[in-house]
Amino acid sequence: MKNQHSDALVFFGATGDLAYKKIFPSLQAMVKRGHLDLPIIGVAKAGWNLEQLKARAQDSLEKHGGLDPDAWKKLSSLLRYVDGDYNDDSTYDLLRQELGTSTHPAHYLAIPPLLFGLVVEKLSSSGCAGANARVVIEKPFGTDLESAKKLNTILLNTFDESRIFRIDHYLGKPVVHNMLFFRFTNMIPEALWSRDYIESIQITMAEDFGVQGRGNFYDKTGTIRDVMENHLFQLLTNILMEKPKALDSESIRDEKVKVLKAIPALTEKNIVRGQFNGYLQEPGVGSDSRTETFAALQLEVNSPRWQGVPIFLRAGKNLPVECTEIFIKLKPASPFYTNYQVGQNHIRIRISPKVMIAIGLNSVNPDNETECHPVELLTTHHPDSIEMTAYERVLTDALAGDPTLFAREDYVEEAWRIVDPIIKANTTLYPYEIHTWGPQETDAHLLPKEGWHNPQ
Ligand code: BG6
Repeated sequence: MKNQHSDALVFFGATGDLAYKKIFPSLQAMVKRGHLDLPIIGVAKAGWNLEQLKARAQDSLEKHGGLDPDAWKKLSSLLRYVDGDYNDDSTYDLLRQELGTSTHPAHYLAIPPLLFGLVVEKLSSSGCAGANARVVIEKPFGTDLESAKKLNTILLNTFDESRIFRIDHYLGKPVVHNMLFFRFTNMIPEALWSRDYIESIQITMAEDFGVQGRGNFYDKTGTIRDVMENHLFQLLTNILMEKPKALDSESIRDEKVKVLKAIPALTEKNIVRGQFNGYLQEPGVGSDSRTETFAALQLEVNSPRWQGVPIFLRAGKNLPVECTEIFIKLKPASPFYTNYQVGQNHIRIRISPKVMIAIGLNSVNPDNETECHPVELLTTHHPDSIEMTAYERVLTDALAGDPTLFAREDYVEEAWRIVDPIIKANTTLYPYEIHTWGPQETDAHLLPKEGWHNPQ
């Protein structure tokens, strides 16, 4: 039963922003690929009817990636709609009717996290969450360790862990999915992958835009909760985990949890927080808000493989570029050509906007043989056309019951344990100018030996 395909997709938050920007385009892509042929029941409190939901879905497709007439026709025929308040039992009665003969629906909660508990309890008491139902939960999963534990308890009262799918859409990105393949099928990097050869690791998630009208959500969240303890930790655990015993979901997830367990909880000296100038004027943001829009962290991993390797994470809004990149600096080779300025090798994994893996090496400058010429061996690929988007992949996997790309209970609690002290510490908040690499004070507090690697 565990991996049986869901027979209906219920999605709460059907009239919301996430549905408009990401979910409808993913549903169309799934239909086009032949991965979606089941009733799709949108739920929201908008006072709408099905025709209005369809008009919204059509508009979403036109604005986000384009409408495919055949796929849209099919998707439109699958759509159903339940309008109602998430507090009202009558909403769930209507949902129960729409579900008809479905015995293993997937309930996808694309709604504000504060409502997760309520909706899950109502799904349970209304009989919409029978023994084979699944629940798919958007991030952020809780707001700290305590709330994440409470939420897990609520979920586990209704669904066993194998039926809970905690989304981190970063796990659905093509290169993240392929990172383990890159690591475990190649001697480079496998032979170099330890404290013996790696000097430091930096992960930067830079966005060149602000909060894009999401001030209300963002102001309660901030960079650490929004992207660090989830997206960046997922990249980190993919980079650092040991080779799993097998390729099944639990063997992979076990190894990721082991990485987090080896990271001590962060303290105030591990963090620099910043806020871009102008943030306080954003709609939905408190006039005296102390929410960070930039954060830089340093952490360490107490495992035999990684002990002593400094790891730096950095993320922010309104930085100079939009790019997420992992930069792994190798230790210097033993000195030999001492009259050349040779650099240290690196491995660079770009997650977005374009997927790229590069290995940085030294070569002799062909125009001047007395000089060293740094080069990169580059693999790139352009996932735009054929590869699934992150949301398409995670929704496809949730409906198929494959939990590999979802965060497990112990994983989310370990991630919160690591950041819990710093999200409560109210550390200094430094201002920064938009389109700079964050507050100038960052370097005074946290500076990788070789400087920050700013993706170009
Ligand atoms: C979301 C965050 O989870 O990820 C956003 O809430 C962020 O603030 C977004 O912009 C980045 O995702 P992507 O896939 O666009 O890089």
